[in-house]
Amino acid sequence: MQLLLALPVLSLVTGTEAAETILGAYIFHRHGDRTPKSLPPAKLTSLGYDQVYSAGQYYRSRYLTGPSKIRGIDPDVVKLSQLSVTSPVDNVLQNSAMGFLQGLYPPVGETMAKQPLRNGSDVQAPMNGYQLIPVNIVSSGTGSEDNGWLQDATGCQNAKLSSNGYFSSAEYNRLLSGTKDFYGRLVPVVNGTFDESDVTFKNAYVVYDLINVAEIHNTTIPSSDVLTNSTLFQTRTLADAHEWGLAYNASSNMRAISGMQLAGEILKYINSTIVSGTAKSSANKLGIQFGAYASFLSFFGLADLPKASPDFMGVPDYASSMVLELFTNVDVPSGSFPSMNDLQVRFLFHNGTASNSSEPVAYPLFGGRNDALSWNDFSSELSKFAVRTTEDWCHKCGNTTGTCAPYAPANNSPPANSNSSSGGPHMSASIGGVIGAFVTLAFILGTLAAVMLLGGLRLVTKKALAGRSTSTSEISMQKA
Ligand SMILES: *[C@@H]1O[C@H](CO)[C@@H](O)[C@H](O)[C@H]1NC(C)=O
Ligand SMILES: *[C@@H]1O[C@H](CO)[C@@H](O)[C@H](O)[C@H]1NC(C)=O
Ligand SMILES: *[C@@H]1O[C@H](CO)[C@@H](O)[C@H](O)[C@H]1NC(C)=O
Ligand SMILES: *[C@@H]1O[C@H](CO)[C@@H](O)[C@H](O)[C@H]1NC(C)=O
Ligand SMILES: *[C@@H]1O[C@H](CO)[C@@H](O)[C@H](O)[C@H]1NC(C)=O
Ligand SMILES: *[C@@H]1O[C@H](CO)[C@@H](O)[C@H](O)[C@H]1NC(C)=O
Ligand SMILES: *[C@@H]1O[C@H](CO)[C@@H](O)[C@H](O)[C@H]1NC(C)=O
Ligand SMILES: *[C@@H]1O[C@H](CO)[C@@H](O)[C@H](O)[C@H]1NC(C)=O
Ligand SMILES: *[C@@H]1O[C@H](CO)[C@@H](O)[C@H](O)[C@H]1NC(C)=O
Ligand SMILES: *[C@@H]1O[C@H](CO)[C@@H](O)[C@H](O)[C@H]1NC(C)=O
Repeated sequence: MQLLLALPVLSLVTGTEAAETILGAYIFHRHGDRTPKSLPPAKLTSLGYDQVYSAGQYYRSRYLTGPSKIRGIDPDVVKLSQLSVTSPVDNVLQNSAMGFLQGLYPPVGETMAKQPLRNGSDVQAPMNGYQLIPVNIVSSGTGSEDNGWLQDATGCQNAKLSSNGYFSSAEYNRLLSGTKDFYGRLVPVVNGTFDESDVTFKNAYVVYDLINVAEIHNTTIPSSDVLTNSTLFQTRTLADAHEWGLAYNASSNMRAISGMQLAGEILKYINSTIVSGTAKSSANKLGIQFGAYASFLSFFGLADLPKASPDFMGVPDYASSMVLELFTNVDVPSGSFPSMNDLQVRFLFHNGTASNSSEPVAYPLFGGRNDALSWNDFSSELSKFAVRTTEDWCHKCGNTTGTCAPYAPANNSPPANSNSSSGGPHMSASIGGVIGAFVTLAFILGTLAAVMLLGGLRLVTKKALAGRSTSTSEISMQKA
């Protein structure tokens, strides 16, 4: 009986799935493997370049050429109006974006890259028709992969206060005292880089990061016998707890400002896909943003993803990606666009480099049970926390000067949330222990000068990277 009932439902499901049309997508991507943050300037390694390049190839086969390609997108020769690529000013993130794009839109080859001139001769584009795709800037994650204290990259006053609150939470203090012996045993492994007194839970992420990078790259690690599998595992999970605590707190969610801004970027882009689709223009189909794990964590918290899986509370691996796909299950004759009520959105995530053999998986957002949401529900849920305008950012952050001066309350009183003296210990140690990149809206101008200063320092040995770093710097020069 039950079987009989189930059958028509099943065929209905498969029937609608067959008709699914992808109309647009927004990808938020982590950078590939890099050198440690504690030895700035951090650099994308050859391994990291390979990871983002492969991810670009995967997304090419998913969204440009495969059976679930985005409707109307140019598969081979990039049409810049269809694509938006952004990253904060940061060597690792920008180079990751470029590596990804090389996989997404590979060189078109000699024939397609040839152009006839008026005088009858043909001109051939360099590098076998390598495609030039600008990476635009979202600014306040500037230098994120070199940054010591994650909320500095956001410039958001109330986010700093909220994150600092973590250092006075019971949870933090329990872990700080409970892991003294554990971190004490790690000292001989990392004392070439950190003072003994800095090797505590307070610096859980940077300590983990240094060891993790060494486990991938260093042929010899001092006292490496300390690093058993279970020690490595604990180093990682402690870093996870630390970073989650700084990136999200349900009862003090201002610390998730980077997730709020990402939500704003997502809403604006998907909305632009719909607006141009409705206007029968073929623009704004694929948005790609590179950013750091802290933005992932903040967004995961805001979108209630830990309800779908507690794994969302862990730092995503290098080259991880999350995607929001705009699709419809109704038939869309070419030249038309579905009505607002027929649009749906799903969230997908892949931990580490996505590939044909390990594809992104859909998870329900907002503590729900369905992998897909109507666009109306999705946009209203996301709007609850999305920050889309400078004015909104200034109000939420309690900032009243600089970019925010025009929105400051007339009486110049201090911002509502300025209980800074009770905000717990402020991060001042040189390696802060709080790391991350915070993606911001393009209107908050970042300081290029700081990056250039950092770029001038040469603390990292080049030897392991020499081969690839030459070619990446060639690429950035081309871009410029
Ligand atoms: C045609 O114009 C291009 C670009 O100005 C120049 O490089 C090329 O030599 C010209 N070819 C001929 C045959 O004049
Ligand atoms: C916001 O305020 C904080 C603290 O006063 C300041 O450090 C930061 O630069 C400000 N951000 C912007 C974008 O004005
Ligand atoms: C979360 O925020 C609440 C309210 O500000 C605070 O009491 C609590 O200690 C915070 N927890 C963490 C882990 O930061
Ligand atoms: C690191 O610790 C080891 C073992 O305690 C010690 O032999 C070594 O001299 C220390 N190195 C530095 C740079 O402090
Ligand atoms: C790994 O190698 C780099 C460069 O030689 C060095 O600076 C770093 O301290 C090493 N890390 C560990 C944990 O051994
Ligand atoms: C430690 O983990 C590695 C990689 O996951 C595995 O190959 C190795 O067998 C493990 N060693 C022990 C002692 O469990
Ligand atoms: C989408 O954009 C249009 C036109 O700019 C605007 O009127 C509308 O409010 C936007 N919708 C959302 C959900 O952002
Ligand atoms: C991704 O993998 C890391 C371990 O490498 C784990 O800590 C984290 O929880 C995973 N995230 C998700 C969403 O699966
Ligand atoms: C992945 O699958 C697509 C077809 O869906 C295929 O075109 C592509 O070559 C595959 N990529 C790899 C690396 O196997
Ligand atoms: C500031 O602190 C006072 C006293 O501790 C408290 O009553 C008030 O709610 C706090 N304001 C904010 C915005 O946290």
